Amino acid sequence: MAKIAFIGVGKIGQTIAYSIIMDGLASEAFLYDVIPELPEKFEHELRHALATRGINTNIISTNNVQDVNNAEVVVITAGKPRKPGMSRRDLFVDNAKIMMGLAKDLVPRNPGAKYVMVTNPVDMMASVFMNYSKAFTISTGDQVETMRMRSFIAKKLKVPVTKVNGFVGGEHGEDAVILWSTVTVDGKPFDEFQLKRDDVDQYVKGIAAEIIRVMGGTTWGPATIIKDVVRSIVLNENRVMSVATPHKVDGEYIHIAVPTVVGNFIGPSLESVLPQDEREKLNKALRDVHSVYKENMAQLVGTA
Ligand SMILES: NC(=O)c1ccc[n+]([C@@H]2O[C@H](COP(=O)([O-])OP(=O)(O)OC[C@H]3O[C@@H](n4cnc5c(N)ncnc54)[C@H](O)[C@@H]3O)[C@@H](O)[C@H]2O)c1
Repeated sequence: MAKIAFIGVGKIGQTIAYSIIMDGLASEAFLYDVIPELPEKFEHELRHALATRGINTNIISTNNVQDVNNAEVVVITAGKPRKPGMSRRDLFVDNAKIMMGLAKDLVPRNPGAKYVMVTNPVDMMASVFMNYSKAFTISTGDQVETMRMRSFIAKKLKVPVTKVNGFVGGEHGEDAVILWSTVTVDGKPFDEFQLKRDDVDQYVKGIAAEIIRVMGGTTWGPATIIKDVVRSIVLNENRVMSVATPHKVDGEYIHIAVPTVVGNFIGPSLESVLPQDEREKLNKALRDVHSVYKENMAQLVGTA
């Protein structure tokens, strides 16, 4: 069990906090949001749920960021979500401003915490947060795409999802890279099956926008997956997950996802065992993210 802070308790923040707390992973939970009364009323809801489950988590709900102290894991979902038709990258400038403020406010009060970024564009927001605070930050990266991919293949091939393996890496979103060399079904390579790579690719990259169009946002899938990332950290499970970790590019931290061992320590990544063409695609993703990051930061500084 750990002291876990939830920064932002909107749609996805609530679902993540609920999943983590109900899994018994939090000895103490901080719920922080800028909307008056929202953390407090959410706390009541959680307490009711905890009562029936017999779980004793100490919950601190607040509209004051200074109340968030000595957390060991900090999950950040604060910020704007995309509206139908928007790309995640369109959120950069608005959400980066929030990350800069949070970097300043949270890190001195929560030294040594692991910061887990969820706010989109998630990899670049992890980079903003880490470049501004120097605190170790990961983004949930393509672990969400990884599970979307496995679920789609299992459904299409009518096999249990536990028989499907493999990872998606690169940037979370439309530019994610399916690491085909890792994809197996019942231990056999993906290409032995009657399913087109393009169909898997389209599903993995397009399903979030479809869910947003109809349901207003994605919650249950990512929240459960992100809960498992936090679980692997807190319980030191050392699961291999496609989270985005910092890479140094021209003196700045830039995040892209690579299958990585996630435990109390994050790493090593499995990049070196991937074939050359996939390592090149990941490198290209890193360069692309870096260039978009720089362009957006220039725009942000220009509007400041
Ligand atoms: N990485 C992923 O897989 C994934 C999945 C779903 C959503 N998201 C992202 O998570 C973010 C939140 O999405 P949502 O659907 O929960 O949106 P939402 O609007 O329901 O919730 C966002 C919350 O952040 C709060 N907030 C804004 N500024 C804040 C600040 N400075 N400090 C604290 N709280 C603040 C808002 O008051 C709101 O309650 C979006 O950027 C969305 O794109 C990421």
